Order: sequence, then structure tokens, then C-alpha cells
Amino acid sequence: MRISKILRGSSLLLITIILITSVLAIAAYVYSGITITSRTEIKEPIRVYRIKGLPSTLWPGDVGTIEFKVENKDTKPYIINCTVKLPWPGDGVADGRGIDVIEFIVGDQNRTADLRDDGVAHFVIEGKETLTAKVTIKAHGDVPSGVADITIDIIRSVVLNDPPRYIHLSWAVNDVYHTMTIMWWTEYDVSGNVVVYDTVSHEGEDIAAYRFKAIAETHQVCAYGKCFPGYWHEVTLTGLQPGTTYYFKVGGPGGWSKEYKFRTIDPNKPVKIVVTGDSRRPWGEGYELKVHPEVTSNYPWSRIWLAKAVATEDPDAVIFVGDMVNEGNNWEHWSKWFEDVTDNLITADGRIIPIIAVIGNHEMGAYPNVESTYEWFKGVFANPGNELWFSLDFPNLHVLVLATTGGCVGTWWAPMVEEAKEQVDFIKEDLASTDAKWIIAAFHVPYYDCFPSGTGYPSEVLLKYWAKLLEEGGVDMVFTGHVHNYMRSWPLRTVDVVEVPVDRPWTKVGYKYVYELKHSSEEGTTYVVVGTAGAPTDPYEKGGACAIRDFMASAYARHMYVLLEINSTNIH
Ligand SMILES: [Fe+2]
Repeated sequence: MRISKILRGSSLLLITIILITSVLAIAAYVYSGITITSRTEIKEPIRVYRIKGLPSTLWPGDVGTIEFKVENKDTKPYIINCTVKLPWPGDGVADGRGIDVIEFIVGDQNRTADLRDDGVAHFVIEGKETLTAKVTIKAHGDVPSGVADITIDIIRSVVLNDPPRYIHLSWAVNDVYHTMTIMWWTEYDVSGNVVVYDTVSHEGEDIAAYRFKAIAETHQVCAYGKCFPGYWHEVTLTGLQPGTTYYFKVGGPGGWSKEYKFRTIDPNKPVKIVVTGDSRRPWGEGYELKVHPEVTSNYPWSRIWLAKAVATEDPDAVIFVGDMVNEGNNWEHWSKWFEDVTDNLITADGRIIPIIAVIGNHEMGAYPNVESTYEWFKGVFANPGNELWFSLDFPNLHVLVLATTGGCVGTWWAPMVEEAKEQVDFIKEDLASTDAKWIIAAFHVPYYDCFPSGTGYPSEVLLKYWAKLLEEGGVDMVFTGHVHNYMRSWPLRTVDVVEVPVDRPWTKVGYKYVYELKHSSEEGTTYVVVGTAGAPTDPYEKGGACAIRDFMASAYARHMYVLLEINSTNIH
């Protein structure tokens, strides 16, 4: 141990050390390694007990340790949430460089975690009896020197009443037969990151009755220097049996959910998928209720009703084509959405219906272009790959999901060009790689809808970059939202996209479609807009601009969803 190096730190630092440790606990600073021994007792039903320690200068090769004793005065269990906060970023890799491995030993329980990029490592240990805990930090290789500061929170489970909420399912990997991804939310990160599951029900029995158990990763949703309240827990169960019902509970010290179930996809059975989108709340002040006397809006009851109606169909999954919420950067909007929509996408017998989430412009942030980022959406859902554009394979069906946010509400054209171009290679490769009988594409903003083309509306960017690509790539149906109507086209082919001069603040060139109507889905692609999951509807004659076009086979301004039944010969 390099005592001399430690002493290079200011004497003020040493005084600080003594003050902190004295105030918080009985402490002794020992120069055998960098060791502070603290002792504290749990004496009252407090939620958080905080110990700070190990303020020192770490050098490569140093090992820092903080020890403390937990004296539990009663027999109720507690959990220790150890948050190690250091002034340097971790590299997230246990490669023996930097401060990247931290051990936390409580009794015979030993946890090791890598330091995250934000300089934080988390450990959770449950205990019942008086014990001594020891936290060790190892500094490797090229670690910079500085003052380390450990905060240890001891959270008593007896005061935690924080059962899982907003439980939802999806597929974070493209294997709907053998995997299922579960996400849930708790107020505190330590409240529970465990899922127990089995092929038979154990409702009413002990958690230990379930044969299988998995531990979820826990994360916060943060961007622009703020984080949503609470913590998301996410785990992908693998090695599941196809076409099988699994019963599960999620939770931990903060409480457990009731027993739910999910169903893996059976490769030999027809698949049933619901498509819907746009459940966001009105802009506010009733604005959207005034634009047309026939507009339908009874937010939020419409989206609650819709979710319940979808559940009665018993679908294998729901494709949600974006604009779940009005402001993607607003936790209140999200938490309400999970209450209204995902909490109701559950069948009467307790099966949670997986959601294939498609990002919309409203998920990016608030109008106009406030805190715009993909991170809000990515944080609350679990999708494959980059979570924004990806594909999933079902029996006889390939689902291609794309991102069309245009940056955010209020930005549009330039970001839309960027987004469209960025996905071109992915679309080509993805469509070339599938031999599924049916292909559907799902994204948020439509380019065949009630609005005329050639006006510089941002969806024309997609017309230029994607229309032929998707149609020639074999996409049978394109599902979108954004416009709060149902609209279905006849099968059609885009034969040309013509550049036309426009005078918009964001572009001087628009794109106009030239199409041919076809007689069958063999020859053409069917475009469906279904932005009807609860947002105030847009009458298709809205403003005189959004009208029924000649390529439309059907159009309604009603809250509704599309139910697809797919087998080897038909898609209904
Ligand atoms: Fe939208």
C-alpha cells in the first residue's frame, strides 16, 4: 500500500474522512490497504440507512474496502442495496483495466459487478440475521487517481410495499417459439428483479414451487439529464417450449405480482395478430375536439375500451404502430398509458398479450422538438436489435418494423430523410433474407393516406425512399398510424415518385405518387392506416385536405383495430 501517495492528498481530505465516518458510524481508518471499518445498526424501521466511506486516493493496484456490521434487532428480513459511486466512469468490461470489478461480500453471499459507465455498481443482498458486510474495490491498470465515495443504502424490506407494475411482454430476440421477454416497473430498484415460471400453475403456493427462475437486468430511463421515476426490470426467458403456456410471477422483496401466463408461438398453428396504434391523449384544452363536429374522443376511456376489446380476441401479439403517448419525455403520460393499455391487454384467464412496439413521432419527446431522443421509447420497451428497426418471424409471416419519427413532433423533414436513408440497407437485407409466405411492414407515418402527395408533407420522404423498396421486396401489407383514421387501400403498385416544387419552410421539393391499382395482393401491396387506438379521431374530410382518395377501399373515423389471421394460404 502506498501510504505516501495517500498522504499526498490534502489534510482537509483526512479531516473530511474522519468527520463523515464519525457522524455516520463508529469508524476507524486503517492503513492496511485502504480500509475503513464502519459499524452501524438497524434500530428503527427506516427505509434507507446510508454509510459513506472510502474517501481516498486510489492508485493502480490498490484495494479499497469498507466493512460494516448490520445488527438486525428483529427477525424481519432486510435487503442491502449497495450503490458504489465513484468519480470515474467504468468501462463496463471486467478486463482488469481501470476500476471495473467490485466485490460485495455479505456473510457467505458474494456478488461481483462491473462498474457502469456512470461510475455506479449495484448489489442486492437479502439478509435476516446480524452479519458483517464487506465491500471491496479493486483498482487496476490505468485507473486515474481521485477520491472514491461509497454510498451503501440498507433498505428494509419490511417497509417496502413496492410490487411490480406495468408488466408487459415482447420479444427482444427474433425467436417467438423459444423466448419471451418480460418487463416490469418498480419504484425502487431493489424491490424485485426475479421472475419465477413454470408450465403448470402454482397460484396460491410458495414462490419456491415454480421450477424455473430468472433474474432481470434493472435500468432507469434517462436522457437530457433527467430520469423517469422508478426502475424497469427486463429479462428474456430462453429455452422455452413452442406452443406452450407458461405461468409466471415477477417481484422480490417489494412484493410479488399475481400469477400471469404467456404463450409461446406454435410453429404449426395459424397466428392471430392485432394491429392498432395512436392511443395518445389529446394535445390539451380540448383542441382536437373542436376541429370537427364528428371527431370521436373520450380519452382515456376509448383506449381502455380498445385494449379490453383486443384482449377478448385472444391474439398472439399486438403490433402497436406508434404514438402510444403524447409526450415521450413525460413519465406521467407513459405511466398512464401502461395503466390504460398494457394493464388491459390481458385475457380473462390471465394471459398477457405481447406487444410489438413501433416508435411514433410522439415517443420522441414533446412538441415542438423538446427532449427529442429514441431513449424514452427504448427504455420502456424491449425489441430486437436496435429496438427501432427489426423483424420478427411468425409461422408463415415475416413482420418488418421500421422507425419513422421524423425526429420529433415539430421537426420533420430533414430528420425524416436521415431516418429513411439509414434504414434502406436494413430493409433490403431483411426482405432478401426471408422466404415467409406473407410479409407485413409496420411503421408509424403513412404515405398512402387521406392527404394528397406532392405538398411537401414529410411522409413523402418515405414515398421516395421506401415505397418501391417495400413493394418490390414482397411486402403484402403496410400498416401505419399517425393519422387517426382507419384507411385501407386497394392493392397497388407505386410506378413512379415525381419531384415537384413546393414552398414549405422545411423543403422546396415534394414527392408525388404515381400508382396503379391492382386486382389482387399477388400484384400489389395493401396500405392500411390504423391510428385508431384511442387518440381523438381525424375525420377523413378534416380540413378539406384529408379526404377519401380513389385508392382507398375502406375508411372509417372510429376507434378500432385490425385483426389478422395468418396461415399458409391466407392472410385475413
Ligand atoms: Fe404521429
